[in-house]
Amino acid sequence: MSQLQQRKDDHLRICLEEEVDSGTTAGFAELRLEYDALPEIDLDDVDLSVEFLGKTLKAPILIGSMTGGSDWAGTLNVRIARVAAKFGLGMALGSQRAMLKHPDTTRSFAVRDEAPELPLLLGNIGAVQLNYGVTHNDLNTLVESVKADGLFFHLNPLQEAIQPEGDTRFKDLLSKMKEAMEAMPFPCLVKEVGAGISERSARKLAQLPLAAIEASGVGGTSWARVEGYRAEPNSSFATLGERLKGFGIPTTQAIQHCRNAFPNRPVIGSGGIRTGTDVALSIALGADIAALARPVLEAASQSEEALEQFFHSLLHELRVICFCTGARNIQELRNVRVLRA
Ligand SMILES: Cc1cc2nc3c(=O)[nH]c(=O)nc-3n(C[C@H](O)[C@H](O)[C@H](O)COP(=O)(O)O)c2cc1C
Repeated sequence: MSQLQQRKDDHLRICLEEEVDSGTTAGFAELRLEYDALPEIDLDDVDLSVEFLGKTLKAPILIGSMTGGSDWAGTLNVRIARVAAKFGLGMALGSQRAMLKHPDTTRSFAVRDEAPELPLLLGNIGAVQLNYGVTHNDLNTLVESVKADGLFFHLNPLQEAIQPEGDTRFKDLLSKMKEAMEAMPFPCLVKEVGAGISERSARKLAQLPLAAIEASGVGGTSWARVEGYRAEPNSSFATLGERLKGFGIPTTQAIQHCRNAFPNRPVIGSGGIRTGTDVALSIALGADIAALARPVLEAASQSEEALEQFFHSLLHELRVICFCTGARNIQELRNVRVLRA
C-alpha cells in the first residue's frame, strides 16, 4: 500500500474511532428559524428539490468530499453513491491525488457504473497541488476518468501545516488557480476542509471563474485534530493539532461571508451540519445547498441501510421544518427569518 493510500485509510480510521470534533460551535445552536403556527400550506405541498450546477437534486444536499484511493475507500464510495442516487442527492469524491500517482486506484473513485442514476458527481484535488507539479492535463484526467460533472479544489493550509510531510507552499496560488480554471472545460468549485472561508478569502476567491463555493467552516470535523492524531504522540504536531482544533471561521459566519462575496453564484453550507435543522438554517443564512461529510462516513461504514436510514430521517426533519416555517420549497426557505436563540 502506498503512503497516500495508507494516509487515506488512517484518516478514515481516525474519523471513525477518535474524537475529531472541533470542540467549538458551528453557530447553529445559537440560532433558530421563525416558527409559523399558521403556515397556510399542506405538509404534502413541500418540495425539497433544487437545481444545482444545471442538475436537479431531489433535496438540497451534497455528500461532502471524503474518500477514494484504497479498497476500503472504494467500498464506502460505492455505498455512498448508491444511496445518493436513490435519494437524488449530489456526491463529491475525496482527493483524487492518489489517482495521478497510482492510476490503478481510479476504480475506487469511479462510482458512476455502480450508480448510473447519480444526479451529480464532483471530483476533488488540493489546490496547493498546482504548486507541486499537477498539470492542467492531470486535472482533465481526474474529471474525465470518473465521468464527474465538475471539480472541487480544496484549500487546507491549516491541515497541511500540521503534517510533517505537509504541502505548505501556498504562494501565488490564486493566479495558478485562475489559469487552471480558465482552461478547464467543466465547472470548477472551491472548498475548505473544516476551517472555513473568511470574508477576505471569499473576496479573493470571487475573482476566479468559480461555479460555486463551499464554506466548510469550523464546528464539525477538525482536520487540525485529525492530523494531530496521526502525528508522533507528544510531538509538537500532536500538540498543535489539539491547540488549533477550533481555529478558523465558524460555519454560520463562513456561509454569510461566501454569500456576500458571491451574491449571484451558488454557495454550499458545510462544516458540522448534522441535522435537518442545520441544513435549513444554512439555507436561510444564504446557502443554496448543504454538504455533510463525517456523519455520512459513520453511517456508510455500518451499512447501506444505515445510510439510507440516516438520510430518511434528515430529510423528514427538513421537510417538517419547511412546513412549520411556511416554506413551500427551498427558495422560500431562504426567506425565512433567522432569530437569535
Ligand atoms: C473521512 C473524511 C475525509 C475527508 N477527505 C477530504 C478530501 O479528500 N478532500 C476534501 O476537500 N475534503 C475532505 N474532507 C473534508 C470534508 O469534505 C468537510 O469539508 C469537513 O469534514 C467538514 O464537514 P463535516 O463536519 O460534515 O465532516 C474529509 C472529511 C472526512 C470526514
